[in-house]
Amino acid sequence: MDKIHTPVLLKESIDSLNIQPDGFYIDCTLGDGGHSIEILNKLSPEGLLLSLDYDQHAVDFVKEYYKDEINNHDNWIIKRGNFKDIKELTKEIDRKPLGILMDLGLSSRQLEESHQRGFSYNEEDEPLDMRMDLTLGVSALDLLKVLPEKELATLFWRYGEERYSKSIAREIKKNISDIKTVGDLTRLVYKVVPVNSNKNPSRRVFQALRIVVNDELNNLKIGLDNSFEILQKGGRISVISFHSLEDRIVKKFFLEKQGSGEGEMLFKSQIAPTDDEKKHNPRSASAKLRTLIKIKKP
Ligand SMILES: C[S@@+](CC[C@H](N)C(=O)[O-])C[C@H]1O[C@@H](n2cnc3c(N)ncnc32)[C@H](O)[C@@H]1O
Repeated sequence: MDKIHTPVLLKESIDSLNIQPDGFYIDCTLGDGGHSIEILNKLSPEGLLLSLDYDQHAVDFVKEYYKDEINNHDNWIIKRGNFKDIKELTKEIDRKPLGILMDLGLSSRQLEESHQRGFSYNEEDEPLDMRMDLTLGVSALDLLKVLPEKELATLFWRYGEERYSKSIAREIKKNISDIKTVGDLTRLVYKVVPVNSNKNPSRRVFQALRIVVNDELNNLKIGLDNSFEILQKGGRISVISFHSLEDRIVKKFFLEKQGSGEGEMLFKSQIAPTDDEKKHNPRSASAKLRTLIKIKKP
């Protein structure tokens, strides 16, 4: 088993947390463990790292890949769980976190080794599932089946900013009995959306379905609120987002906390990957890092 995911904005995000060797840190989005291992390496035996992921496959991979590090450190806890439940997930830990990291969205492992979940529009034969958290009940195909045409069009518009949302929804409902796999959906989108760039015309539809299946934007809103609540004063939350819907939520939350005097943003604007990072890891291209410091009130 090899690592697949290249961590994005690794140095910038770890620096942004200003890691104190004895502190307690939470990596909310373990993935392939790229950010977690970097945090762990900066901690003393008195420090503590909790790494979360709601995808059991991510947790299983890291537990196997980093088994030596896990055996050598009794200060690395790895748990399956949704970061929106961060308060419950840290209930038994008798310390407040000094830093919390969220690296949102999908990992390259989920795209390339999806366990038949159909996250990538390139995996034609996979079923249209898209659940990162397999305890969730509704798959992408369920949504296509149960949502009326108008609601489906709204979903593609709101969560994918897809200009052809109405025609795609109409075509889907007309052919719903023939849609089962990723390829069934992408072929249909090809018929409706003019191809005028080298980007796959299904990408917005896939983004929208994934966001809704996994309730990603609500998780983020609730996760930010709860993270801020449990954070130590002087502690930091750093978030790496990958599209404007996520970044808008992060920016609004951080600005509100700054406005109320409870927080202060570390950077005036967001931090983006360097040209070199984008060249070596094209998946980093749209990434944005923002950091909020919880203010120590007198
Ligand atoms: C971009 S990857 C993280 C990659 C990781 N930082 C690394 O360098 O290997 C995002 C991960 O977060 C997980 N994830 C997304 N939303 C989550 C949530 N609400 N709670 C827990 N995990 C989540 C996904 O399952 C995925 O494994």
